[in-house]
Amino acid sequence: MTDLVLPTIDAYAAAVSLPETSTRRALREETERTMEFARMLVGPLEGAFLHLMTRLVQATRVLEIGMFTGYSALCFAEALPDQGRVITCDVDAASAAVARRFFAQSPHGRKIEIRMGPALETMAGLTGPFDLIFIDADKLNYVNYYRRALELLSPRGVILIDNVLWDGDVLVEPPPDERTAAIQELNRVVRTDTRVSAVLATIRDGIWIITPVPTA
Ligand SMILES: C[S@@+](CC[C@H](N)C(=O)[O-])C[C@H]1O[C@@H](n2cnc3c(N)ncnc32)[C@H](O)[C@@H]1O
Repeated sequence: MTDLVLPTIDAYAAAVSLPETSTRRALREETERTMEFARMLVGPLEGAFLHLMTRLVQATRVLEIGMFTGYSALCFAEALPDQGRVITCDVDAASAAVARRFFAQSPHGRKIEIRMGPALETMAGLTGPFDLIFIDADKLNYVNYYRRALELLSPRGVILIDNVLWDGDVLVEPPPDERTAAIQELNRVVRTDTRVSAVLATIRDGIWIITPVPTA
């Protein structure tokens, strides 16, 4: 992934935003040292954004699709009240082992429940409503995740979807590969969905912020 936002600007924005906690910093540094695809982790600025969104929607139930080593799950858990819960989904045992170790070190880790297995199957078995749903897993399923997330979302809830600028490749026509095509398709689906209001915010690699239109 290249940087869509100048690294100096990103660093400045992170430095003046909500600070990264010491547990998250240690988790990020270990992930960067030991995991091949460490850049999948949202990082300090988007992490601060996820934390703030959790507080803004006064979430008590959060669903995350794509946990990796647990950085974003911790952003949600740290922002939740004591009785709040995050359900987070992944398929990768090695990443989950790292996440479990860091969740155990955090006073907020007990709010996080890990569900291993393909996220679409996990989502099929869940009961809503969730106040906040964060989609950040395999891109080919993004439209499927979005459709199921809408069914699980509370009427005043928010769906966040990560990497929707896909390193700028969303501009390329025809799409160079199937993952780019899947993200372009998601962006079309969201833009034309009259049930929701949505903004594609240019934070890091692009993030949809989506909420249902109120029904009369
Ligand atoms: C971009 S990373 C998530 C990063 C994480 N949200 C963070 O910021 O720390 C995507 C994760 O989705 C997981 N994943 C891929 N396909 C999946 C599937 N079908 N179901 C559940 N998780 C999946 C991968 O194993 C990977 O850990």
